[in-house]
Amino acid sequence: MCAFQLRYDTYRAAVEEYLGGLFPGDKPYGRLQEAMRYSLMAGGKRVRPVMALAFCDLMGGEWRRAIPFGCALELVHTYSLIHDDLPCMDDDDLRRGKPTCHKVYGEAMAVLAGDALQAEAFRLIASAPGVTDRQRAEAALVLSRACGADGMVAGQTLDMLGLGRNRGELELLHSLKTGAMIQGAAELGCVAAGADSRQRERAAEYARHIGLAFQVRDDILDVIADQKVLGKTVGSDQRDGKTTFVDLLGLEDCEALVAQETAKAKAAISDLPGCEFLLNLAERLADRGN
Ligand code: IPE
Ligand code: IPE
Ligand code: MG
Ligand code: MG
Ligand code: MG
Repeated sequence: MCAFQLRYDTYRAAVEEYLGGLFPGDKPYGRLQEAMRYSLMAGGKRVRPVMALAFCDLMGGEWRRAIPFGCALELVHTYSLIHDDLPCMDDDDLRRGKPTCHKVYGEAMAVLAGDALQAEAFRLIASAPGVTDRQRAEAALVLSRACGADGMVAGQTLDMLGLGRNRGELELLHSLKTGAMIQGAAELGCVAAGADSRQRERAAEYARHIGLAFQVRDDILDVIADQKVLGKTVGSDQRDGKTTFVDLLGLEDCEALVAQETAKAKAAISDLPGCEFLLNLAERLADRGN
């Protein structure tokens, strides 16, 4: 196995172990914990927490210290997917290769599981061991900006209102609904490492380009992917009447845009010693199949 894959698997195993220990179900309201765990442990790629751990490492921190921060963001990401799949939003039946949360637990439980995942994320940050109170406060600020009313939720709002009709609007929409959380992941790694603001801005720059490339690739996959590999319904954007980058540019120019943004992401950090893993990650994400 190559060095990249070994390292990804090491980070990912640490993330799975941490997440697997959360939310035991032996409670009178254990159905809530069951629904949370169902979506959380369904086998996502864990790109965002892996990125947080890798940035912590790159910035000279002990990467294990970033686990609670990166996993907190993964909780919020999972909540965003549960709500994104609801009938009132994208109305999808398949997620991470399994029936969506509301298909198994019902809509009320899916809303509640998402709500609880978001709150629990901030608990993980507030109680993270091995970091200072200042780092915990900073991490809470980073996550709230990434997911809040000027972050992911703002992007989902533009998406729901159909306000991604031209290139400029769609870039804003993508940068908010997807880029903000990916930037948050990179910055959380920097906060865990105690990186200075210049280093953090380099990480943010990398992540903003990755964020756009990631969502454009997601739009491409919605058209060309094999549903079994993708683990979610293919063609749902067209079915829901969403304007995507594929509609605006066509598949070929979308591929070119992903390549350009990936190159810009790599350029943002390429002179930092030890950056190879994150350079490799950028490339893998650009031609991923799910
Ligand atoms: C899906 O994110 C939602 C988007 C922002 C495109 P991922 O492709 O990272 O989904 P998981 O976490 O691996 O399921
Ligand atoms: C959703 O974008 C991004 C989120 C904030 C959840 P999509 O609606 O394109 O994500 P998928 O394709 O359902 O994963
Ligand atoms: Mg959506
Ligand atoms: Mg969706
Ligand atoms: Mg999509």
